[in-house]
Amino acid sequence: MKNFVEIFEVGPRDGLQNERSRIALDDKIAFINLLSRGGFRRIECASFVSPKWVPQMADSAEVMDGIERTSTVSYAALTPNLRGFERAVMARVDEVSIFGSASEGFSKANINTSISESLERFTPIMLAAKEENLPVRGYISCVTDCPYDGSISPESVAKVANELLLMGCYEIALGDTLGKGTPEKIHNMLTSVTEDVPINRLAGHFHDTNGLALANIDVALDFGIRVFDAAVGGLGGCPYAPGAAGNVATEKVVCHLESLGFETGLDSSIVDQAVGFARQLRGKYH
Ligand code: HMG
Ligand code: MG
Repeated sequence: MKNFVEIFEVGPRDGLQNERSRIALDDKIAFINLLSRGGFRRIECASFVSPKWVPQMADSAEVMDGIERTSTVSYAALTPNLRGFERAVMARVDEVSIFGSASEGFSKANINTSISESLERFTPIMLAAKEENLPVRGYISCVTDCPYDGSISPESVAKVANELLLMGCYEIALGDTLGKGTPEKIHNMLTSVTEDVPINRLAGHFHDTNGLALANIDVALDFGIRVFDAAVGGLGGCPYAPGAAGNVATEKVVCHLESLGFETGLDSSIVDQAVGFARQLRGKYH
């Protein structure tokens, strides 16, 4: 479809990882089962990180085991190291994501390593994923601003993007982790990144702290990006990005894209139900 834009639903992972109260396993499973009927091609459901670092994701294996899978959906999970990758394989995920950063400060705070060491740590994951025939997506956090290092240069993002591409990531998700990106900053960053990375290998991952996520999506659309991460109800945030708000809300992105004449293939009544479910979850656990 010429006008198709994919929304990659990250609510069950990015959306829930930052919730302070422990969300019941049954609620996580019911949330994903509902989203599975929404027409999404990919749903990020789990994160095989250290449970000490992100306690909310400690039951990721049980989540993956409990969901009813739909054959048209790829169920994705984060894997920070080989240990996480092995846990993800055991849990029968369809694809994994490695996650790095364009800023040293965030890399250290989030995964306890420098950028260059993190790339070295990803190499065995890429090799193991090849053997398992599992696609690997690569995230880059802090593509414009970092909570620790301030402004991030477009060249630093381009460098990591190129490395992840050369490593074999099928797609690079550009994360405005803090939600401080502006259309101008996103434009400058994409100008640099697209010098080496083909546009059809890029996705936008915008948090909406300053309410500019849709404007940033517009810039990315102009560049030709056709995949955007979002979370129903605008859930989300990263425990290691203080001050950041949730992911841009799926329902807002759908509305916006449709007003621009794009198709998302999503079932709006299921998306609405999932927004209601996300609100209920918040009410129940806050
Ligand atoms: P570390 O402390 O340097 O690693 O953490 P370690 O190897 O010394 O291990 C520490 C402990 O964790 C050990 O346990 C390991 O066994 C255990 P202990 O001996 O102390 O009992 N461990 C594990 N357990 C389960 N699964 C594993 C695993 N690995 C080690 N895979 C590490 C390094 C990377 C593990 C840690 O820093 C970590 O888990 N970080 C993840 C942080 C995170 O999940 N952040 C949120 C996701 S990123 C994000 O939200 C941004 C994104 O949305 C894009 C954007 O918005 O920009 C993707
Ligand atoms: Mg995020």
